[in-house]
Amino acid sequence: MRTAIYPGSFDPLTLGHLDIIERASKMFDKVIVCILINSGKKTSLFSLDERVIMLSDVLSKYDNVTVASYKGLLIDFARENDTNIIIRGLREVTDFACELQMAQGNLAMSRTLRTEDKDFDVETLFLATSPEYSFISSTMVREFASYGRSVKGFVPDEIVPLIEAKFRS
Ligand code: PNS
Repeated sequence: MRTAIYPGSFDPLTLGHLDIIERASKMFDKVIVCILINSGKKTSLFSLDERVIMLSDVLSKYDNVTVASYKGLLIDFARENDTNIIIRGLREVTDFACELQMAQGNLAMSRTLRTEDKDFDVETLFLATSPEYSFISSTMVREFASYGRSVKGFVPDEIVPLIEAKFRS
């Protein structure tokens, strides 16, 4: 049974994220989409609980995809879920530098958790985003929506009204 974790802040989930989740679900027996806190992002549009509901709703059609949230380190979540495989999407070259650093950091830190009888190397696998979604980011979605623009075509249709409601209130 091969389980992979697809981590992110998903604030909100975009069509680019969905593309990676769908493709990962065909490659692994189980994919856990884990909503985590990105300490570099000081404010958020949706609370963690709202994101869990939003993702669970959109992803319910995939039998082998589950949604979780975690307030801690990704490597600890991986260990608690008995897997060492992380999936990340790469949109373009500027993603690469910070993704490489994060992957190498997680690998190095996971190696400090090795025990005599158990290896625990957290491996990050990169999937190239489908080109039609490579310009989309959650930050861009929040920015357009904050100026009252529709984000249809950027996020799953079910999420469009949730984002609009945030900026109406
Ligand atoms: O969607 P994002 O914001 O690019 O995802 C980044 C995320 C949430 C995966 C990353 O910030 C993360 O893993 N946060 C949890 C804390 C952690 O493990 N930090 C160490 C690696 S940077």
